[in-house]
Amino acid sequence: MRSCNVGIIGFGFIGKVHAYCHVNMPFFYDPAPCTTRITHICTSRIETAEKGRALVGAKKATTDYREITENPDIDIVHICTPNYLHKDALLSAMAHGKHIYCDKPLTATAQEAQTVREALDSYTGIAQMTFNNRFVPATLRAKQLADDGFLGKLLGFRAAFMHSGNANPNAPLKWKLSKKAGGGVLPDLGSHVLDLLSYLGVGLAEVLAAEQIAYPDRPLPEDPAKRVKVDAEDSVFVLARTGEGALGSIEATKVATGAEDELRFEVHGAQGALRFNSRNPLVLEAFDASLSDQPIGGRSGWTAIHTGQRYPKPAAPFPGSKLAPGWMRSHVACLAHFLECVADGRPADPGIEQGIYLRELMDRVERSAAQGAWVRV
Ligand SMILES: NC(=O)c1ccc[n+]([C@@H]2O[C@H](COP(=O)([O-])OP(=O)(O)OC[C@H]3O[C@@H](n4cnc5c(N)ncnc54)[C@H](O)[C@@H]3O)[C@@H](O)[C@H]2O)c1
Repeated sequence: MRSCNVGIIGFGFIGKVHAYCHVNMPFFYDPAPCTTRITHICTSRIETAEKGRALVGAKKATTDYREITENPDIDIVHICTPNYLHKDALLSAMAHGKHIYCDKPLTATAQEAQTVREALDSYTGIAQMTFNNRFVPATLRAKQLADDGFLGKLLGFRAAFMHSGNANPNAPLKWKLSKKAGGGVLPDLGSHVLDLLSYLGVGLAEVLAAEQIAYPDRPLPEDPAKRVKVDAEDSVFVLARTGEGALGSIEATKVATGAEDELRFEVHGAQGALRFNSRNPLVLEAFDASLSDQPIGGRSGWTAIHTGQRYPKPAAPFPGSKLAPGWMRSHVACLAHFLECVADGRPADPGIEQGIYLRELMDRVERSAAQGAWVRV
């Protein structure tokens, strides 16, 4: 079995999740796609890097990402830093032929994505974006059904990702609410929704967007008495049309009071419909329009397809296929897919190209919100 050394750049919220997935991979996949060992942890401060190093038993803690991207002993580079730092780490890792697991979004701006596109020609590694919501069993089943033609001609769609964290006016202004750092709810949550729609075959041709900053200023994390101006959106609502004329809505918000990490999508076709809500991760709901609604209802109606934790082999039935899959399990499956691709030497999906596509799509959404007009994708 292939064995890979791993360096993780950024060890905050998501860096730890990526590390957990490596450490626990052999529980969930038998055999594991490849053996991995986390050797390097990089953060902005040596104290936090050292804490991360000790947690995963890595060899080295550093504050310089190049100690990872340029290191000949490292095979796989994880990019888990704030969005404005992705580009430089990506370009360096690409130039050194590393395999790359980059969390979303690819870069902070479409311009930066363009420089990554230019580097793709000479890139020899395998790269994947961390769009973990593709790797929920219900979503995987939705993709199978959509590809099999279950929906027929697409008529409409609606998708939303809702959090409530920014509803509090005193929530501090961290990097995710700073434009300069590549923040805003569009890259943060909206990118997941846009990726899912694209995964399910909803190809957007034009968008009309509006954004909201719920509070004009927020406290600085290091000095809560001081309030600073907020310039990145808390909410974005998008009307969108596909090239074939299907109309739908897309929403990403962090001011949905009462919401607890709720991701939902619905796609409606002439022959059927599919819907999913992450608060009920055990099932995908499907509606087959060919079933008769006579007499008194016939067999017509929404069916709950039990997808549970039914991951395809080589996933091991751990802890059990009937149990609810969690958010963390989707991250394990997302990383497993990447490692399989690395082991087999085949391109990973969603790859860097998808990251570029989504970054450009988000640029169009931002442009539409600024102009208050429909923008072609
Ligand atoms: N796929 C998902 O489910 C998901 C969830 C959350 C975040 N993310 C993405 O993960 C990335 C990180 O988000 P987060 O929530 O973990 O942020 P975070 O603020 O919790 O962590 C950021 C990490 O980057 C480090 N860092 C900052 N500046 C650095 C520098 N100059 N050099 C090296 N390290 C530096 C920090 O020390 C910290 O360890 C973002 O791109 C975000 O969009 C993805």
